[in-house]
Amino acid sequence: MALNWVRVENYEAMSSLAAERAFAAIERGVSQQQPMLFGLATGNTMLSLYAQLAEMLNQRRLDLSQLHTVNLDEYVGADGQWISADHPLSYRGYVQKNFFSRLDPKLEMNGEHIHFPSPARPAALDEWICGMGGLDFQLLGIGFNGHIGFNEPIPEATISVEAFAALPSRVVGLSELTIDTNARLTAGGDHSKVPRQAVTLGMAPILAAKEIVLLACFSQQRQPLRRLREGRVTPELPGSYLINHPNTTIIYADDQVRLEEGR
Ligand code: F6R
Repeated sequence: MALNWVRVENYEAMSSLAAERAFAAIERGVSQQQPMLFGLATGNTMLSLYAQLAEMLNQRRLDLSQLHTVNLDEYVGADGQWISADHPLSYRGYVQKNFFSRLDPKLEMNGEHIHFPSPARPAALDEWICGMGGLDFQLLGIGFNGHIGFNEPIPEATISVEAFAALPSRVVGLSELTIDTNARLTAGGDHSKVPRQAVTLGMAPILAAKEIVLLACFSQQRQPLRRLREGRVTPELPGSYLINHPNTTIIYADDQVRLEEGR
């Protein structure tokens, strides 16, 4: 069975297991002296993982000069550009703060190897990833509506199963649920602070990743995971596309708490 489910006790156990998996993938990749493409997700799920992974990399002293990171997404403002990296919701700001700033400069992570889909030409990133042979490892969270990256659910009546799987990187409008969730959890309840659009890595480059690890730890993610277990691939649950991926592990914490309770 290609889809592996791993149940762990709690958030910390989920984060350390995922950090070990990510570390092993990076170690394998960089030891081949070739570029290693590591797909990053952001959000509350990933916070402890990045702290642990940075510590492992620093302690075990991997040379990161061949590491390329590709983030899943970033918010786009009304002007059609990325929001500023110092905007409190910015994912560029998030990875800088939670991961890159923690890395020992001696590991030689190259700032030019940090990639984000660009709203002006999202297809450029897909072409580059494809030319490099695809993402080696992709971290994913899952939205309360089952989204991966910002690939939001689309009614089956409006898109075929195949067409959804082929979606490229692109600028998308965010669903009401996502705007509402992110306003509550990251913008102090102020909907006006949450941008209405984002640029996301498409389903196609995500599904072409050689290895995927999806993490879940919040009670609001129970429902999308339950539907995923039903085994039916549908654009109405973007996470369900992992069912047919050849090497995906879902690590989920047994003590799933409501996100509002905080970690
Ligand atoms: C973040 C991303 C999203 C999140 C998902 C879960 O880069 O692409 O798909 O992974 O919304 O978010 P959290 O972890 O905040 O519950």
